[in-house]
Amino acid sequence: MLKRPKIAIVGAGGAVGAAVAQWAAVKELGELALIDLKGNVAKGRGLDLTQCSPFESFNNAGFTAGEDPALMKGADVVVMTAGVPRKPGQSREELININAGIVRDICKNVKEQAPNAVLIVVSNPLDAMVYVAKQVTGFPRERVIGSAGILDSSRFRTNIALAVGASVEDVSAIVLGAHTDKDMVPVISTATVGGVPLTKLLSAEKLAEVIDATKKGGATLTGLIGTSAWLAPGAGTSLMVESIVRDQKRLLPCSIELQGEFGVKDCFVGVPVRLGLGGAEHVYEFELSASEKAAFESSVKANQELMGIAKGFL
Ligand code: LAC
Repeated sequence: MLKRPKIAIVGAGGAVGAAVAQWAAVKELGELALIDLKGNVAKGRGLDLTQCSPFESFNNAGFTAGEDPALMKGADVVVMTAGVPRKPGQSREELININAGIVRDICKNVKEQAPNAVLIVVSNPLDAMVYVAKQVTGFPRERVIGSAGILDSSRFRTNIALAVGASVEDVSAIVLGAHTDKDMVPVISTATVGGVPLTKLLSAEKLAEVIDATKKGGATLTGLIGTSAWLAPGAGTSLMVESIVRDQKRLLPCSIELQGEFGVKDCFVGVPVRLGLGGAEHVYEFELSASEKAAFESSVKANQELMGIAKGFL
């Protein structure tokens, strides 16, 4: 029998999980299972969202919600947003001691309940949490990916559009590397606006400002809001889910375990990936400029250190 894909969102009581659920429901990506330690909050989120459906003409009537990990049984995609968000002035890396244990415990349930799922991790510190998820589930690397590059790239594209004074629709640009303020790598060398190289459109000074604003993107929002952002993280993650369940083959930057690509082995870091029914179906390699290459190497080092800390929680 034909069936809609099942999408389980763990941490659906939180802001990022609820945002993923919202975009997924409006796009009718599948049957949603909303799971949270606070089961009633997950149920409330599901009801509130479903009560939007008469306005926006989508069908979310098949959703399930609660605290029971068994709700994710047989899911095709599991989105992991559980964990604490950063506070103003806090780095993502500082969350590792709390979030590593949370992600580890939930991943044991994912392995048991949804052994064939593609697992998308959103919890921070992102790259280290994808590592934890991969170690605990033992899933092949194609099915354990992190959502961060898509968000950092959307901030990068937005900052470029504002600096150039052009439509963001025509901005093509990606951020690779670690999902940390210090080490993420906004790639200038391949960025274009309407096919014109970005380096022809902005001065070196303006480019430096765009890079700086992009790297601090999450921290800026945390300072303004008092907690970390959720709308763009949710929208970006739901785009990854969409590319998988609809087999769209989008090429999006995701955190994945490198196995020799970019000269790196056994380290999780953001790179361009093709997302389809099989999850991360292919990693694309390309030549970075000398300074981008150095920044990417710093990203790898920083993530290796974080993975070393995370290992202590396995
Ligand atoms: C951010 C968090 C969600 O960058 O990592 O907004």
